[in-house]
Amino acid sequence: MTILAIESSCDETSAAVLADGQMRSNVIATQLIHEQYGGVVPELASRAHQQHILPVVERALSNATIPKSALSAIAFTRGPGLLGSLLVGTSFAKAMALGLNIPLIEVNHMQAHILAHFIEAPRPVFPFLCLTVSGGHTQIVRVDGPLDMTIIGQTQDDAVGEAFDKSAKLLGLPYPGGPLIDQYAQNGDPLAYKFPMGDMPELNFSFSGIKTAILYFLRHNTNTNPNFIQQHLPNICASIQHTLVQMLLTKLKRAARETGIHEIAIAGGVSANSGLRSAVTQLGHELGWTVYIPRFEYCTDNAAMIAMAAQFKYEQGEFTPQSVSPMPRMSF
Ligand code: KG4
Ligand code: ZN
Repeated sequence: MTILAIESSCDETSAAVLADGQMRSNVIATQLIHEQYGGVVPELASRAHQQHILPVVERALSNATIPKSALSAIAFTRGPGLLGSLLVGTSFAKAMALGLNIPLIEVNHMQAHILAHFIEAPRPVFPFLCLTVSGGHTQIVRVDGPLDMTIIGQTQDDAVGEAFDKSAKLLGLPYPGGPLIDQYAQNGDPLAYKFPMGDMPELNFSFSGIKTAILYFLRHNTNTNPNFIQQHLPNICASIQHTLVQMLLTKLKRAARETGIHEIAIAGGVSANSGLRSAVTQLGHELGWTVYIPRFEYCTDNAAMIAMAAQFKYEQGEFTPQSVSPMPRMSF
């Protein structure tokens, strides 16, 4: 079985080839144009996908040394994501499947982030819990099988990736600020400043309050010292990161306690955060969890995870009709 997968839900155009269980290529073109606007501009994202998609797909096939004629199916991200961006990947996948007369497989982007754990060993054992943290989502998912997932907790407002990016913006850092906060935090004291963690019921999250708290904190301090941010950037970043990571881990601990599940995975763009990676590893040692952390390449958006999810669907015979259209708010 040889699958070509396409990912175009946000600001990464990616294509990957999975052949007989081996990820043979994973090409990712990141759109840099959004940096100057401080966030993803949907219209520009779709235009950039249009420009990148053909060269990215061709590169994925040539890196994999697989001819188009050897493909068994074309997979694509149907949602969730930006409508214009999803349309580019969906239309391209449909046309290619039609031209090659092979099946089409739609994939849910959030499910794919979780299934990225099955690309290579060590693979989680079912049932496991996955903390899925990205620019658009923050979820705790109970995973009973490759295609059997239940959201048991999620954010009621902003995603944690958004909290990272918006905090970075307040600090005057360019978009996407999450990785930069991570970088500055390496040299800072995580306990230098205290921010409120809020108190959401059950396994749910809220990240809108902390954003406002950071805004007031910065306003107050820069009023008395206009150079406050420049002078204390590592400590500010380390404290913001520490607070966000603790908010995530408090609920993850509760989920593990309530479900009795000790197989724990993290996924999505924010799972690239070094503070989260080390804190969850540490917690695993303390609480006897087996912890699964994806390779960096498979944390942020990529088509390899789409190919992996599609392989499970192919095995179940779950194909998609040509009449399919994107679902920007797709859930599972
Ligand atoms: O999964 P992803 O690539 O795209 C979405 O599906 O949203 O996640 C992107 C998010 C952005 O908010 C970005 O700032 C965040 O992941 N991110 C990080 C790090 N690397 C990416 N946040 C904190 N620390 C990082 N190292
Ligand atoms: Zn994503």
